[in-house]
Amino acid sequence: MRRQWAGYLAGAVVAGVLCVLQAGCERHAGEPPPIPGAETGEALFLRLCSGCHPGGRNVKYPAKSLDRMTLAANGVNKPRDIVNILRNPGPGMPLFDRARLSDREAEAVASYVFTTFK
Ligand code: HEC
Repeated sequence: MRRQWAGYLAGAVVAGVLCVLQAGCERHAGEPPPIPGAETGEALFLRLCSGCHPGGRNVKYPAKSLDRMTLAANGVNKPRDIVNILRNPGPGMPLFDRARLSDREAEAVASYVFTTFK
């Protein structure tokens, strides 16, 4: 009898945990919670982009700098547009596909660029 109660209790605990996990999944398909210890947009930028885009400039092609006015002039009006460039860059810029940069990382570096360079 006692064992049966323990079984019910364990079942309730498992159900509770599943419930919490599921709530986490329902948050937003595109916006998972941040992973502790994941590289920030700034760290990614410094590691992967700043060679060609120091301080938001463009050493290869100044007309494609990362300041807000130049971005707007080139039709880049939101972080999502920057993610699209990473996935499909113009000449002279390396491809950052999902193997190099997860969606989460691409979004982090894109919003860093969009909010940092004026
Ligand atoms: C090897 C040099 C190089 C690296 C590394 C590089 N880029 Fe670029 N980037 C370029 C060049 C060249 C262009 C212009 C391409 C074109 O003509 O469309 C460009 C264009 C861009 C643009 C469009 C700017 C505009 O005004 O239209 C964005 C945004 C951008 N890069 C972001 C990044 C980010 C974020 C990273 C790092 C994840 C990165 N780039 C890494 C060379 C580079």
